[in-house]
Amino acid sequence: MQQVRYFDYLSELEKHLSDYIQPFDKVVFLVDSNTKSLCFDRINRSHFSVIEIPAGEEYKHINSLIHIWNELQNLHANRNTLLVALGGGVVTDITGFIASTYMRGISCLYIPTTLIAMVDAAHGGKTGIDFNGIKNLIGSFNFQPYVLICTEWLQTLPERELKSGLAEVIKHYLICDADSFYAFCQNPLKVVYLELIQKAVSIKNHFVAKDPKDEHERKALNFGHTIGHGIESAFLGTKIKLLHGEAVAIGMFCESYISFKRDLISENDLKSIENCLLANFSLPAIVSFDEVLKFVKHDKKNTDSINCVLLNGIGAYSLNQQISEDDIVSSTEYYNGLLQ
Ligand SMILES: NC(=O)c1ccc[n+]([C@@H]2O[C@H](COP(=O)([O-])OP(=O)(O)OC[C@H]3O[C@@H](n4cnc5c(N)ncnc54)[C@H](O)[C@@H]3O)[C@@H](O)[C@H]2O)c1
Ligand SMILES: [Zn+2]
Repeated sequence: MQQVRYFDYLSELEKHLSDYIQPFDKVVFLVDSNTKSLCFDRINRSHFSVIEIPAGEEYKHINSLIHIWNELQNLHANRNTLLVALGGGVVTDITGFIASTYMRGISCLYIPTTLIAMVDAAHGGKTGIDFNGIKNLIGSFNFQPYVLICTEWLQTLPERELKSGLAEVIKHYLICDADSFYAFCQNPLKVVYLELIQKAVSIKNHFVAKDPKDEHERKALNFGHTIGHGIESAFLGTKIKLLHGEAVAIGMFCESYISFKRDLISENDLKSIENCLLANFSLPAIVSFDEVLKFVKHDKKNTDSINCVLLNGIGAYSLNQQISEDDIVSSTEYYNGLLQ
């Protein structure tokens, strides 16, 4: 299991980091254009090399890998180099993949700087890039990165990105922690981020420990993602920018509705989930149901039928539920109706 350390302040993180890097010949940070100025430039960086990629999901691309492999070679990086991810989920996913592949594997450390990366992307070993328009098609499992989480980074994170991370936390609560879900709904502004992150990480790691390669139990973490990924891909072709967590929030509306239709959750449960999501997110209507359907059907996780995780009451889940095209269309129509 990956090791995780938590810090309130950057000064504490830096002290820990300077002890940790002692055995390495060279330390190379991987950043994006935002985390270069907002994060890397805030730490004492005199002993570190840095490789920068542009910010954004569209740079989770093979061209970024080629750029980074070239830069590592120019820096004479070797098996005794430590690669440090300083950024959101795009940077941690790329760094983990680079660390799995450069010279058949080098050491790597994650310093996540978005809420999504702190609660989700930096844990569980999945790395990778998008390919031919399909998210995370090429990648590896790399369970070795040590993770250093510091909530001070969240000070510069735009509110919308913060909310996007909260969607993944709500998802964690909905599948296995009803008390935290109700506590959050009652008082979303009273969140203590360090506690929220620790709880979310322990939930994620519980599933990863049971099923590291995502073959059975870990699939519970995909709640909201079967339809959510379809929605995310459908919006890529539009002018509206939809963040990953926002797509997952819409996916949770739809998959909760399907759970209700199958008597897996009560009408009260459904209303609680809808009220929580409506109170915390400002989400767009779905423009094309056909596009969403097309992408859900092409999702790499589907074999012959559309497999989905549904809720089984708030705080419990039901794996391997087959959903139909009608379920997808009716639930997305229902979601649009809620926005009116
Ligand atoms: N490997 C996994 O298990 C896993 C899990 C969840 C998500 N992901 C991946 O993570 C990605 C989404 O993560 P994300 O939302 O962190 O994306 P991201 O890395 O693109 O970060 C979002 C934006 O925030 C900026 N940013 C980062 N830190 C900042 C800070 N402290 N202050 C201000 N701005 C900052 C980034 O530059 C970027 O513009 C997706 O590619 C998704 O597939 C992976
Ligand atoms: Zn997600």
